[in-house]
Amino acid sequence: MAHKRMLGTGLMLSVLLCAVRLATTAAAPEEQKHSDPSKSCVLGKCHADILKHKYLHGPLIVGQCTVCHAPLPGNQHKFRVEQSAIKLCAACHKRVDTTGYMLHDPVAKGKCLKCHDSHGSEEPSMVRLSPQVKMCNDCHKPVLTRKYAHKPVAEGKCLSCHPAHGSRAKKLLDALGSEQCLQQCHEKMRPVVVAGKEQKLHLASEDCSKCHRAHDSNYPSLLTRSPAELCLDGCHKEIKENRVSSEFKHDAMKKELACVECHRAHDNKFGRLLRKPATDLCFTCHDELQTQLETAKFKHRPVADKSCLSCHVPHDSNYRKLLFTDYPSDISSAYDPSNYAFCFSCHSEKIVSERYTDTNTDFRNGRLNLHYLHVNKENGGQTCRACHGDHAGNQPKQIRDTTPLGSWKIPLRFKKSDTGGGCLAGCHSEYTYDRVKPAQLRAQ
Ligand code: HEC
Ligand code: HEC
Ligand code: HEC
Ligand code: HEC
Ligand code: HEC
Ligand code: HEC
Ligand code: HEC
Ligand code: HEC
Ligand code: HEC
Ligand code: HEC
Ligand code: HEC
Repeated sequence: MAHKRMLGTGLMLSVLLCAVRLATTAAAPEEQKHSDPSKSCVLGKCHADILKHKYLHGPLIVGQCTVCHAPLPGNQHKFRVEQSAIKLCAACHKRVDTTGYMLHDPVAKGKCLKCHDSHGSEEPSMVRLSPQVKMCNDCHKPVLTRKYAHKPVAEGKCLSCHPAHGSRAKKLLDALGSEQCLQQCHEKMRPVVVAGKEQKLHLASEDCSKCHRAHDSNYPSLLTRSPAELCLDGCHKEIKENRVSSEFKHDAMKKELACVECHRAHDNKFGRLLRKPATDLCFTCHDELQTQLETAKFKHRPVADKSCLSCHVPHDSNYRKLLFTDYPSDISSAYDPSNYAFCFSCHSEKIVSERYTDTNTDFRNGRLNLHYLHVNKENGGQTCRACHGDHAGNQPKQIRDTTPLGSWKIPLRFKKSDTGGGCLAGCHSEYTYDRVKPAQLRAQ
C-alpha cells in the first residue's frame, strides 16, 4: 500500500537524524553513567527482559535506550520519556502522509501505543495483540453478533479490509463499494466485458452492499435481508403480486432460502439464473417422483422430455398443483371443454367432442368415439384422470393401474391390441373395442 511506503521512507531519514543528534549530545557527567545503555541497562538483571521479544524495535536492536529515555540530571537513575507518543514516534517515523488519507482516530490522536509496544512484541509490526481483532475490540464493540460470519472477519483478520492507520475512503476502507470486494477476493464476480460492454450478470455490477453485509448476517450468503424480502421488495414486485394473488402456493417459496433455493444471484449458466436445469432442479426436492418416473414403463412425452415447466409453473398458481390452467380435480365432472383447457392446450378437443370419427382418436369402436362416450356427458362424465395418469404409468397410453374413488382404488386392467383394446375395470365387466371390426357393445 502506498502510505506504508511513504511511512518507510520517512523512517530512513529520521533514523539518520537521530543518530546525528545522539552523537552531539550526551556530554554532562551525570549523563555519562548512561551513555552506553546498551550495556548498562540490559546487561544486568534489571531490564534484561525488555529485550526478550520475538520482534524487537529497531533502536533496541542497536541498544539505544536513551533515544527515548533521556537521562535526567543527577544520579537518581531518572529518565524522561516524551509524554506525547506521537512526538516520540514521529521523531523517527514520519506520520502517514495525510493528503488523500483519512486517519484512523487513534492514529490522528497519536495513540500509537494503544496498538504498538514501544520495545518489541511477539507479533509482527510490534502490535500488542493477535489476532488483530483483539486490538480492535479494545475500542470497538465486537462486530460479530449475527448467525453467519464473513470468513476473514471470523478469523479476526480485520486488516484485510481496514488499513490500521488510515484510508482513502470512509469507514477505514481503501476502496469504495464493490471495488473493495472485487479487488481483493471476489475477482471472479467482476462483470465480464465483451466488446467493451459490461455483461451485467444479474446485479453483480451493482454495489455489493445493496444485498450483502460486510461482517456478518442472520441470513446465508451474508444477505442484508431474507432472500424473499431482498428479491421481492427490491425488484421483483410482479412475483410478489403473483404471490399474494395466487390461490395455490408452491411450498418451495416458503422455505428459509425461498428464491435462493432455485435461483443463484450471480451466474446464469442455465438461464433465468437457475441453480440447475429446471427439471434437475425440481428433482432436488421431488426425489420420490424422480424414482417413480425412472422406473415407470411408459412416460407422458413432456415428462420423458424432462420438461416439467411445459405443464407446471415454478412459483405460484391460480390452478391446482401449480398447473398453468384448468384441469378438473375429480374423477367425474359435467363436460365443459374449458374445464379441460389444460389437456386441450396440447391435445385436440376433437378426441372428445365428436360422437363419430374415423381419425380423431384411437379410442373408438368402429366409428364410435369412446372418449366422447365416457367424457362428454352433461351431468357427470369421467374426467381424463379416471383413466390416464399425469406423468407416467406401467400400462400403455398412460392408463392408470388404479383409479382412486374415495378410499377404494378401482383396478383398471387395460389390454391393447393392434386395432383396439380391452378393459376390465372395477366400473364395469370386461369390454373390448376394435377400430376395424367393431366389437359388440351394449346399446348406448
Ligand atoms: C522507541 C522508544 C523507546 C526505546 C528505544 C526504549 N523505550 Fe523503554 N519505554 C518507552 C516508552 C514510551 C515507555 C512508557 C510507555 C509504555 O508503557 O510502553 C517505556 C517504558 C520503559 C520502562 C518502564 C515500563 C516497563 O516496560 O518496564 C522501562 C524499564 C524501559 N522502558 C526500559 C527501556 C530500556 C532498558 C530500553 C533499551 C533497551 C528502552 N526502554 C528503550 C519507549 C522506549
Ligand atoms: C529512534 C528512532 C525510533 C523511534 C523514536 C521509534 N522508532 Fe519505531 N522503528 C525504528 C527503527 C530503526 C525501526 C526498524 C525499521 C525496519 O525494520 O525497517 C522501527 C520499526 C518500527 C515498527 C515496525 C516493526 C516491524 O516489524 O515492521 C513499528 C510498528 C514501530 N517502529 C513503531 C514505533 C512506535 C509506535 C514508536 C513510538 C513509541 C516508535 N516506533 C519510535 C526507529 C524508531
Ligand atoms: C489501531 C491500531 C494502530 C495504531 C493506533 C497505530 N498503529 Fe501502527 N500499525 C498497526 C498495525 C496493525 C500495523 C501492521 C500493518 C499491517 O500489517 O498492515 C502497523 C504498522 C506500523 C508500522 C510498520 C509498517 C508501516 O506501516 O510502515 C509502523 C512504523 C507503525 N505502525 C507506526 C505507528 C505509529 C507511529 C503510530 C502512531 C502515530 C501507529 N503506528 C499507530 C496498528 C496501529
Ligand atoms: C485506541 C482505540 C482504537 C483501536 C485500538 C481501534 N480503533 Fe478503530 N476507531 C477508534 C475511534 C475512536 C474511531 C472513530 C470513532 C468512530 O467512528 O467509532 C475509530 C474508527 C474506526 C473505523 C471507521 C468508523 C467509521 O464509522 O468511519 C473503523 C472501520 C475502525 N475504526 C476499525 C478498526 C479496526 C479494524 C481496528 C483494529 C485493527 C481498530 N479500529 C482499532 C478507536 C480505535
Ligand atoms: C471483508 C472486509 C471487512 C473485514 C474483514 C472487516 N470489515 Fe469492518 N467494515 C467493512 C465494511 C465494508 C464496512 C462498512 C460497512 C457499512 O458501512 O455498513 C466496515 C465497517 C466497520 C466499522 C465501522 C462501524 C460500522 O459498522 O459501520 C468498524 C468499527 C469495523 N468495520 C470494524 C471491523 C473489525 C473490528 C473487523 C475485524 C473483526 C472488521 N471490521 C473486519 C469491511 C470489513
Ligand atoms: C441484488 C443483490 C445482490 C448484489 C448487488 C450482489 N449480490 Fe452476491 N449474492 C446475492 C444473493 C441473493 C446470493 C445468494 C444466492 C447465490 O448463492 O447466488 C449471493 C451470493 C454471493 C456469494 C456467494 C455465492 C457465490 O456465488 O460464490 C458471493 C461470494 C457474492 N454473492 C458476492 C458478491 C459481490 C462481490 C458483489 C458485488 C460485486 C455482490 N455479491 C453483489 C445477491 C446479490
Ligand atoms: C422451485 C424453484 C423456484 C423458486 C423457489 C423460485 N423460482 Fe423463480 N423461477 C424458477 C424457474 C424454473 C423459472 C424459469 C421459468 C421459465 O423459464 O419459464 C423461474 C423464473 C423466474 C423469473 C423470470 C421471469 C418469470 O417470471 O418467469 C424471475 C424474475 C424469478 N423466477 C424470480 C423469483 C423470485 C423473486 C423468487 C422468490 C420469491 C423465485 N423466483 C423463486 C424457479 C423458482
Ligand atoms: C426447494 C424444494 C423444491 C423444489 C426445488 C421444487 N419443489 Fe415443488 N414442492 C416443494 C414442496 C416442499 C412441496 C409441498 C409438499 C409436496 O407436495 O411434496 C412442493 C409441491 C409441489 C407441487 C404440488 C403442489 C400442490 O399444490 O400440491 C408441484 C406440482 C410441484 N411442487 C412442482 C414442482 C416443480 C415443477 C418444480 C421444478 C420447477 C419444483 N416443484 C421444485 C418443494 C420444492
Ligand atoms: C404433461 C404435463 C405434466 C408434466 C410435463 C409434469 N407434470 Fe407434474 N403434474 C401434472 C398433473 C396433471 C398433475 C396432477 C394435477 C392434479 O392432481 O390435479 C401433476 C402433479 C404433480 C405433482 C403433485 C403430485 C401430488 O401427488 O400432489 C408434482 C410434485 C409434480 N407434478 C411435479 C412434476 C415434476 C417435477 C415434473 C417434471 C419432471 C412434472 N411434474 C411434469 C402434469 C404434468
Ligand atoms: C404440454 C403439452 C401436453 C399437455 C398439457 C398434455 N399432454 Fe398428453 N401428450 C403430449 C405429447 C407431446 C404427447 C405425445 C404425442 C404423440 O406421441 O403423438 C402426449 C401424449 C399423451 C397420451 C398418449 C400417450 C401414448 O403413449 O401415446 C395421452 C393418453 C395423453 N397425452 C394424455 C393427456 C392428458 C389426459 C392430459 C391432461 C391431463 C395431457 N395429456 C396433457 C403433450 C401434452
Ligand atoms: C374411460 C377411460 C378414458 C378416459 C376417461 C379418457 N381416456 Fe384417453 N384414452 C383412453 C384409452 C383406452 C386410450 C387408448 C386408445 C388406443 O390407443 O387404443 C386413450 C387414448 C388417449 C390419447 C391418445 C390419442 C388418442 O386419442 O388415441 C389421448 C391424447 C387421450 N386419450 C387423452 C385423453 C383426454 C385429454 C381425456 C380427458 C378429456 C381422456 N383421454 C379421457 C381412455 C380414456
